[in-house]
Amino acid sequence: MSTNPYNLAQDAAAALKSATGLDTFDAALVMGSGWVPAADVIGQTVAEVPVGDLPGFAPPVVAGHGGKVRVVRTESGKHALIFLGRTHLYEGRGPEVVVHGVRTAAAAGVRTIVLTNAAGGLRPETQNVGDPVLISDHINMSGANPITGTTFIDLTEVYSKRLRALVHEIDPSIAEGVYVAFRGPTYETPAEIRMLRTLGGDMIGMSTVLEAIAAREAGLEVLGVSLVTNPGAGLVGEPLNHEEVLEVGRSTAARMGVLLAKVVDRL
Ligand code: HPA
Repeated sequence: MSTNPYNLAQDAAAALKSATGLDTFDAALVMGSGWVPAADVIGQTVAEVPVGDLPGFAPPVVAGHGGKVRVVRTESGKHALIFLGRTHLYEGRGPEVVVHGVRTAAAAGVRTIVLTNAAGGLRPETQNVGDPVLISDHINMSGANPITGTTFIDLTEVYSKRLRALVHEIDPSIAEGVYVAFRGPTYETPAEIRMLRTLGGDMIGMSTVLEAIAAREAGLEVLGVSLVTNPGAGLVGEPLNHEEVLEVGRSTAARMGVLLAKVVDRL
C-alpha cells in the first residue's frame, strides 16, 4: 500500500470500484454531521462499503458520523457516491486523512462533489435553524492545508457559481454565505463569534474547507451546503451541544435529501 496520499487515493478508488461493482459515478457527496439521515432520500442503495475496508480511511470516532461509502441510484438513473461521515482535523490524523475521501472520489473519476456540513449560524437576524445555506466562499481558520509544497492552487471560485445557480433554479429561497472553519473540537467563544461576524463570516463549522481545497486541486466542481443547526455561541445565550446538531439533521432529512437528489439528477 502506498504512503503517497495521491497514490493511496488511486488504491482506494480501485478497491471501491471492485467492492461496489461499479466503474463510474456521476457525483460524490460528503454527508456531514446531521446530514447522514438525508442520504436515505437521495436514491436507492446499490452498494455499501465500510470505509475500514478501503485503503487509507480512518474509522469514524464521532457519533452520527457514519463511516461508510454508499452508492445510490437516483430516480433518473444517476449513480452517486455518498460518504456517510467524514474525518475531521480535530481527530488529529492530519489533513491528508481529512481529504482522502475527496481524492478517492477524484481518482474514481468523479468530476462533481457536494460537501455538506452542520454549522453555527453567525447571522441569526436572517438565518433560521434548519435552513440550508449555500457556501459562496470560505475563510480557512483551521490552521491547516491539505497541500504541501509549491502547488499554488487558485481559489478565486472554490464553490462553483454554475452549481449554485442550478440549486437556485431548484429552490430560489436558499441563501448563500461565507463559511468559516475552525479546527475545533471546542465550539467557539462568544468573543470569537463576534470576531467572525466582523470578518464577514456567515456560518461557522469544523470541516469542509480542506476538502474543498483538495477538490479544487483535483479539478472537481464543488457545491458546498451548510445546514444551520444553531445560532453561534453567545448569540442567543443557550449552550451548544452535538446532540442538538444531530437532531436538526434528523428533522430536516427529508427536505435536504430531496434537494440533493434534485441536484444530482440535474448535473
Ligand atoms: N460551531 C462550530 N461547528 C458547528 C456549530 C457551531 O456552532 N454547529 C454545528 N457545527
